[in-house]
Formats: sequence, structure tokens, C-alpha cells
Amino acid sequence: MTDTGRQQPALRLTRADLDALPNYVPGRSPADLARELGLPEAIKLASNEVPYGPLPGVVEAVAEAAAGVHRYPDMGVVALRQALAERYGVDPDRIATGCGSVALAEHLVRATCLPGDELVYSWRSFEAYPIIAATSGATSVQVPNDAGHGHDLAAMAAAVTDRTRMILVCNPNNPTGTAVRRAELDRFLDAVPDDVLVVIDEAYREFVTDPEVPDGLSYADRPNVAVLRTLSKAWGLAGLRIGFLVAQPQVAAAVRKVVTPFSTSMAAQAGALAALAQADEVQRRCALVVAERERVTEALRKLVPDVPASQANFVWLPLGDRAVDFGKACEARGVIVRPFAGDGVRVTIGTPAENDAFLAAAESALG
Ligand SMILES: Cc1ncc(COP(=O)(O)O)c(C=O)c1O
Repeated sequence: MTDTGRQQPALRLTRADLDALPNYVPGRSPADLARELGLPEAIKLASNEVPYGPLPGVVEAVAEAAAGVHRYPDMGVVALRQALAERYGVDPDRIATGCGSVALAEHLVRATCLPGDELVYSWRSFEAYPIIAATSGATSVQVPNDAGHGHDLAAMAAAVTDRTRMILVCNPNNPTGTAVRRAELDRFLDAVPDDVLVVIDEAYREFVTDPEVPDGLSYADRPNVAVLRTLSKAWGLAGLRIGFLVAQPQVAAAVRKVVTPFSTSMAAQAGALAALAQADEVQRRCALVVAERERVTEALRKLVPDVPASQANFVWLPLGDRAVDFGKACEARGVIVRPFAGDGVRVTIGTPAENDAFLAAAESALG
């Protein structure tokens, strides 16, 4: 610090290209909104969480793990990788875990792309993808969604160049809820060169009910396919930050090499192990979410006819320029949704009462 009274030019200590990068937008705090509106509580339908609380046994497992938090966690994540391997029928050396599957997506880019290499994905899709690409030095190649708001896999295959190192297929797609089907995914995978890694991001796999939408793990024996899963959504562990991938051993090992050391915390490992023992309850909760998804979609289509069918735990309202105003109108009625300016609004499926509150807000904004 100088004391000359002269104005110092602002020092640039960080990368200039970050200025152009959008921030990841977390869902707004319902407590803040409730305070602002003078309501006892507000409803958050903005982050694709499942509304039924932690699964039985999770809180106890995390509390027990807390007694050991003066020690580092198991960096090999041995017990959890073993449990995941058994559940999904793959070898543990094909699994890597991370601080949410979003971190694993980043690690995969780090493991495949050098600066200037290309990462292909559909757009609009998960808002973290462009941020991950840019911060990893990879070049984003965004292929516009098709007219039905889903991936145009033929155009994505055509976008591959000799600089392409990785392709993200978000299935079902966040935020539009659309899903690619088996025949088109087969064709796409056959068309992609063997030395390009195709990452099938299945954060919402547990909510898929269309039998034609393939389980990405059925492709996991292809050498250039990796499947991303999360325990944040159906498994109710969003706050613990735990996701995993299944890939060929060499890819999984590369990811484990670039992962931030010890980033799968002791609490996350313990909570995930407890959650995996509750598969029946997960299925029951997903069925509730799916029934509500269908009810909400049908009701919304009376207001916005082109709401696409969703295979996830959220629905998409393609409102274009009305998106932001619609989001504000919902907030004014105590319901937080997720608008994407100029494009549409994503609304997470909540409890029946929460969904009713949202539908009432939507009716008053659009009816
Ligand atoms: C498509 C998709 N992938 C990955 C994630 C990341 O989930 P997490 O990091 O909580 O595992 C999300 C979360 O919203 C998502 O929508």
C-alpha cells in the first residue's frame, strides 16, 4: 500500500477471461425470501432436490462419522466404491467418486483436455458445463438444442473435429427434462471417434420412466464411454456433496489422479453408504416425484402448451422473454423457481402441497 495519494491502477491478479464467464447461480435462499415477504416460509423449487428429507439412517451415519473428523477420510474411498460396484455390477477400479458429480465432470475435462481442446455439449444444458470448460482451458463447442428442447445428437456428432476430446450428453437434460432414446444414442456412439470420451451425465437417471431411454451404464463397456451419477438428487444427499462415475479403469484412474485430494469427505462416504442401503425407499420417493411430475406437466400445459415431457424431477417452461418476469411473479407468491433469461424457467417437482402453491402462482402469472 502506498501513501502518495495517487490513484493506483487496479492490479489484475486473476485471469481476464473469467470476467466474461457467467457465475453459477445457486437457488435463492427460501429463508431470505420468507423474511422479505413476511411469510412464515417460502418454497424452493429451484435446485432439483427431492423434498422428503434425508433417507432413514443417513443422519445417524453422518453423526457417527463426525466423531472421527479430526482424521482425514479414506482417500481410496474403498468401502463406498465397493458398495457402488456391487449395486451397479461393475468392478470397483472402474469407479471414481468426487465432491458432487459436478466436480467429476470438471476432473474429466482436466483428464482429457489440454488448453484449446474442444468440449462438445448441447445448449441449453447444465449451466456448469461452460464454466467447467472455460476454467479448465478447454474450448466450448455448444450445439443448439433441437426444436423439442432436447439434444440434436446428429449435429453433436457432426460438430466433432480433430480437436474434440470430450462430449457431454446430459440425459435427461437439465434444465429441459428431455431425454435421448436408445436408437439415437446407439447411432451417435457409433459415429463418434473411438478416441473421444463421451460422458453421459445421468444426474436424474432415477426419475426416468420411458423404457426407451437407455441406462447409460448399459454402454459403460464401450471403451470411450463414462457415466456420471450423483447422490444429490434421488438419494437425497445434495448437502453432503457426493457423486461418482463409472468408466474404463484407465479413465477412472486418471480421474482419481487429478481429483483434489480427500475431496470425498468422511461424512459423504458414511452418508452415501447409509443411503445405498435404502434403495427401496428411494424408489418409493421417485415414484411420488414422477406422479407429481405428470400432474404438474398436465396442469402447466393448459397455460403453456409446449411444455416438453420431462424424464427428470423438474419441468421446463419455454417462456422466452417472459422467463424472468415469471420467476419474479412466482417469488412474489413465495415460490422460488429458476428462470434462465430469454429462454425458459425450470421448476423442480416438490411435495404435492408445494406443487399446488407453484401451480397457483403460475395460474395467476399466466392465466
Ligand atoms: C445434469 C447435472 N449434472 C450434474 C449435476 C451436479 O450434481 P452434484 O454436483 O450435486 O452431484 C447436476 C446438478 O444440478 C446436474 O443437473
